[in-house]
Amino acid sequence: MLKVIVADNYEEVSREAFRIVKETVKILPEPVLGLATGSSPIGLYKKMIADHNAEGTSYDKVRTWNLDEYIGLPRSHDLSYWTFMHENLFEGIDIPEENVHVPCGDTEDPETECAKYEESLKDVTIDLQVLGIGADGHIGFNEPGTPFDSLTHVAELAEQTRRDNARFFENDIDQVPKQAVTMGLGTIMRARKILVIATGTNKADAVYGMLRGPVSEDCPASILQNHEDVTVILDKAAAYRL
Ligand code: F6R
Repeated sequence: MLKVIVADNYEEVSREAFRIVKETVKILPEPVLGLATGSSPIGLYKKMIADHNAEGTSYDKVRTWNLDEYIGLPRSHDLSYWTFMHENLFEGIDIPEENVHVPCGDTEDPETECAKYEESLKDVTIDLQVLGIGADGHIGFNEPGTPFDSLTHVAELAEQTRRDNARFFENDIDQVPKQAVTMGLGTIMRARKILVIATGTNKADAVYGMLRGPVSEDCPASILQNHEDVTVILDKAAAYRL
């Protein structure tokens, strides 16, 4: 079942997302969170840190698995997703480092890394998976055409995705890695609950495809129509085609 919340602006979107994350973290004794990088969840992560500081919400028993990582960047690189997560969330909360999982893209053998990452999730069920959505409908780095039953794999980034992400790489598309390790669509669909955050008009077509389009590999996010517990939080711009 898909539930859609349309909020007035990014602040409200982040507040709604935070409410759901906090509920999960508070209720479950050993919560497992699936996390995304990118612009969409930054407001949510800021609220998690502010709440941890103000209310003492603890992440001591929380374990996290991130969706993806660029291939070819060392973890210490400014723009690795490992660095992103530490700077935007993990350093601001009390999560033990050993509870954090981000795929490693700095490897000669990414296929083995994918298999290891999938294996690390074998006996784990993600309680709440946070997702953004790409302008082409990707989730994780599962670009259009990715099989619905895919597990963690090496993904080729679509041209549009590399253009969209160039803003982090001095607006230079040539600096954006061409491949990533990503959880597959099959991996993502195993989560108990999924939370999608999307804002801005450039996401409106992808949001329409996710919610109203046919369930098709042409729009990877449309697979979420087959999941039983998805909440999509949008601002008005991302929701305008609905
Ligand atoms: C990030 C990820 C991607 C992003 C998507 C949207 O870990 O898996 O699918 O969620 O590209 O990115 P933003 O939020 O930057 O628009």
